[in-house]
Amino acid sequence: MMMLFIRPVILFTGICFAAGSVSAQSETPFHYSSRKSVVCTNGAVVSAHPLASRAGLSMLKQGGNAIDAAVATQLALAVVFPGAGNLGGGGFMVARLSNGKNISLDFREEAPGGATQNMYLDAQGDPVPGESLNGHLACGVPGSVAGIFASLKYARLPIKKLIQPAIDLAEHGFAITAAEASSLNESSEEFKKYNTVMPVFVKASAWKAGDTLMQKDLAKTLRLIRDYGAKGFYEGETAKRIVEEMQRGNGLISYNDLKNYTAKQREPMIFPYKKEYSIVTMPLPSSGGVLLPQLMRMMEGRDLRAEGFHSVASIHLMTEAERLAYADRAKYLGDPDFFKSPVEKLISYQYLQERMAGFNPDSAGNSEQVKAGIIPESEETTHLDTYDKEGNAVSITTTLNNWYGCKTVVGGAGFFLNDEMDDFSMKPGVPNMFGAIGGKANAIRPGKRMLSSMTPTIVLKNDKPFLVVGTPGGTTIITSVFQTLINVLEFKLSPDDAVNKPKFHHQWKPDVLYMEKGFPDTVIGKLREMGYRIEPRSAIGRTELIQISPTGSMEAVADGRGDDAAEGY
Ligand code: GLY
Repeated sequence: MMMLFIRPVILFTGICFAAGSVSAQSETPFHYSSRKSVVCTNGAVVSAHPLASRAGLSMLKQGGNAIDAAVATQLALAVVFPGAGNLGGGGFMVARLSNGKNISLDFREEAPGGATQNMYLDAQGDPVPGESLNGHLACGVPGSVAGIFASLKYARLPIKKLIQPAIDLAEHGFAITAAEASSLNESSEEFKKYNTVMPVFVKASAWKAGDTLMQKDLAKTLRLIRDYGAKGFYEGETAKRIVEEMQRGNGLISYNDLKNYTAKQREPMIFPYKKEYSIVTMPLPSSGGVLLPQLMRMMEGRDLRAEGFHSVASIHLMTEAERLAYADRAKYLGDPDFFKSPVEKLISYQYLQERMAGFNPDSAGNSEQVKAGIIPESEETTHLDTYDKEGNAVSITTTLNNWYGCKTVVGGAGFFLNDEMDDFSMKPGVPNMFGAIGGKANAIRPGKRMLSSMTPTIVLKNDKPFLVVGTPGGTTIITSVFQTLINVLEFKLSPDDAVNKPKFHHQWKPDVLYMEKGFPDTVIGKLREMGYRIEPRSAIGRTELIQISPTGSMEAVADGRGDDAAEGY
C-alpha cells in the first residue's frame, strides 16, 4: 500500500492555482491538486487532467481494473478537457491483459457516406482554406463512444458506475484551470462563428482560472449513453441532434453513418526490440504502427548510449531516421481496409538497412533528395495510461484533431465535433494542419478512416508489462513516443526525465528540425553547422508514462508541459 509523491503538487482552487499541497480527502472539483508523479503498488492512472485521473483512480479503488479506470478517465476527459477529451472524436486503444492477451481497438472517425475525394477543393482544384478544419463539413463520423463500449468486455464494473463521475462533473461543474481559461478565450471568436446554437463555452466576459464550467446538455447526453448504451449516442435523441446540427451547417453526417459506425478490433503491431523487449502498438490506420518499428529498428544495431543522451551524434542519427520514416508515411500509409500498405516490407530489417545506407554522420540529410523507399507506395489530442495490480495495462490516445475539433458543438447535446477530415490527404502533396502530406493511400473515400499518428504503446520486458506510454501532438506523436522509449531503453533515463527532458522532431517535410527549449547552445550550433534548419517549438507532446518494476510497483509520470496529472494508490 505504499504511495509516495515524488514531485510537487500543483493546487487548483476556485480562485487561483499555486504550488502547494492538499490532502486527497479535501479535494473537490472546485479545489483540487495535480500530482506530477506517483509511485504505488495497487494501480495508477495518468491523463491530461487531475479530475479525470481521479475518476479513473476511484474506479480502481472500487474494485475496477485498468480498463474500468481507462473508461472512467476517458469519459471524464470529455467533460473536464473539452479541447481534446471527447464524445465527438475518435481514437485508439492498446491493452495488455493480465492473461497475456494483447489487444488493439480502432475507434477512429471515418468519412461520412456523402464524402468525396475532392470535397475540399475549389473549381481550380485547390484546397479551400479552413474547409477541412472548421465547422460542420470538417468532421468525420465520431468513434469514441463505440470504442468505449467495445472495450467494456474487458472491464469489470458497469457503465452506470464508470460514467457517473463524468455526469457529475458535467451536471454540477468544476473549476477550470488557467490553461483551459486561456484556450477557451483564444477560441471564443471561432466558437461564435462555427456554432448554430451558442454553446456554454461562450460567455460575455473572459474566462479565468477557477471559473465554474457547467455543461448541462453534455450531462443529458451522458445520461442517454448511461441508459441506452452506444445507441444512446448513435441512435435516438443524440443522433437526431447530430444530424440536425449537420443540416443547419451543411455537414454530411447522416443517421445511417451513425448507426453503421463500429469500433474495429485489430491485430496489434507487435515487434521485438533487442533481446528482452517486445513492443505492442497500434497498427494502421495509425501510422505509428509502421513508423515506430521503423524508427526503433533503425536504432537497434547502434550503440546510442555511447553517443550520449542529447549529444549532437545521437540527435543527428535519430533525426535522419525520422526523416526517412516520415517520407514513407506520406506515400505508403492509409486505412488498411481501403489501401494495401506494404507494412512487412517497410518494417523489415533489410529495407531499413538500405534506407539508412546513405546516412552521413557529418552532415544533415536533405528532404528534397530523400524520397519514400522504392517498393514494388494541434496537436490537440489527449492520451491516458492505466495499470492495475493484476497486470492489466491500457494505453489510449483519443482526439478531436484541432483544439476543440471543428469548433462546432452539437446543439442541445453539448459536445464538440472533430475536424478529423483534415487528416486525410485533400490533394496529393498538399500539407494538412500538421504539415503532413499524402497521396492515394490516404485519399478521402466514404467510410474510410483517415491516417493517424496516434501511437498508444506498451513495452513488455521479458513478456511482462514494463512501460505504458503515449502522447498527443499530431505528427510529433510518433517521434515523442520513439524518443521516450529510447530515453528509457537506451539512455536509461528515469521515467520523469524520459518524459520531461526536451524533445526534437523532424517529419521529412518541411525540412526543419524542431527543438524544444533546453538544448545547449553548443549542440544547436553544431547541428546548424551540419546543415540543419532549426526552429524552436514551444512544446512537443504531453507524454504520459507508467513504468512497472519487476516486483510490480509502478511509477506514473504526468507530463510537466500541461495540467496533466498522475494518480495511484
Ligand atoms: N489528429 C491527429 C492524429 O490522429 O494523428
